[in-house]
Amino acid sequence: MSITRPRGTNDFLPPETSKWQIVEAMLRQICYEFGYGEIRTPIFEDTELFARGVGSTTDIVQKEMYTFADQGDRSLTLRPENTAGVVRAYIENKLAAQTQPVKMFYIGPMFRYERPQAGRFRQFHQFGIELFGSSSPFADAEVIGLAWEFYNRLGIRGLELHINSVGCPNCRPGYRTALQNFIKPRYDELCDSCKTRFDKNPLRILDCKSPVCREICEGAPAMAENLCQDCAEHFAAVQKALDAAGIPYQIDHNLVRGLDYYTKTAFEILASGIGAQSAVCGGGRYDGLAEELGAVPTPGVGFALGMERIFTVLAAQGEDIEVSDYIDVYIATTPGGSGVTEAAFALNMDLRRAGIRSEQDLIGRSMKAQFKYADKVGARYVIIIGEEELANGQAQLRDMQDSSQSLLSINEIRKYLLER
Ligand code: HAM
Repeated sequence: MSITRPRGTNDFLPPETSKWQIVEAMLRQICYEFGYGEIRTPIFEDTELFARGVGSTTDIVQKEMYTFADQGDRSLTLRPENTAGVVRAYIENKLAAQTQPVKMFYIGPMFRYERPQAGRFRQFHQFGIELFGSSSPFADAEVIGLAWEFYNRLGIRGLELHINSVGCPNCRPGYRTALQNFIKPRYDELCDSCKTRFDKNPLRILDCKSPVCREICEGAPAMAENLCQDCAEHFAAVQKALDAAGIPYQIDHNLVRGLDYYTKTAFEILASGIGAQSAVCGGGRYDGLAEELGAVPTPGVGFALGMERIFTVLAAQGEDIEVSDYIDVYIATTPGGSGVTEAAFALNMDLRRAGIRSEQDLIGRSMKAQFKYADKVGARYVIIIGEEELANGQAQLRDMQDSSQSLLSINEIRKYLLER
């Protein structure tokens, strides 16, 4: 039996990968404009990092991690997300000693053992940003603004920005109790997952997809209406900042996110028309995470967006990213001609050194087939090297747009092409 790729993973091939590069270049440009530098952290981390960082009661930690023991019997985990890793790196590299805020972005693969379906993979790619050292609501707004700007530039239509506040350790316990009291009379009707969530993490019941749990939560008290003064003022200020920048949003009382580290602002950007996995981006503030990982309290806010889902949304909207895959020059050679292929190779290398995109026959095709190939790859010029011309140090240059042909000295071809 042939070996196939693991379930829930993808091979990305050219020219598809060129589209990824275009999107990544766009993201890097936006990060440059917003002042975010790139961070690259390990693909695997100490398992403890995620257990403590992401939260031991989350689906991610309980069911979805790729955890293994290495040869030295250390428990390691392929990163299911990168906020915990970036916070770890911030602490380990003493970035708190640098001028604040520290603003970083990352692009790379993440791993979650989830049930694969449209838009949900076991290896997927995230672009994310993290901003450290600022408690200002304008930091939250900047982070949201960067994501919003990206989708706008990409030309994706009809996205919805949902925001909520999940409070802080001061106001959340009171809200938890209020929510539990509201749900308790109908505890027996909850789905099995929500029954376990009831004690451990009752807020998660609010975003359960089961119709019964949804119905039970109708009319439940809203976190955003039970915030302490500090959280309430912060949430109002984030909204005011988004209003000022003309970024449309809706308050979503059921938005709680699947990771435990959030405090205050939580947000998601949702797309319609791509099925159940409609969240293209998610993030929020995590002021308690650094402390959870053993450092001094450090405010943080960020988001991650799914790279694969960008392409799903574009396809659903009938949009595509144009990749220009034309070559500048194809060098055709008479098959079997003495010294011809070597001369073509020397010229080919010379043209490439000058930044010209050129190719020559590597299959041993007939002249006719070489022209057909040149046409297929959209070559702008074809250089024809035959034994006779080569004897005089010359080659034919055909302009494929107007079919004009001229005899040139091989040594002059590079200059001639560069001038055009
Ligand atoms: P998350 O909501 O778990 O947040 O993931 C962010 C985005 O990654 C999702 O909105 C989705 O687009 C994409 N995504 C997640 N899981 C999959 C999957 N299995 N297949 C395809 N795409 C997926 C986080 O990961 C947080 N670390 C975000 C963050 C950064 N919060 C603060 N800073």
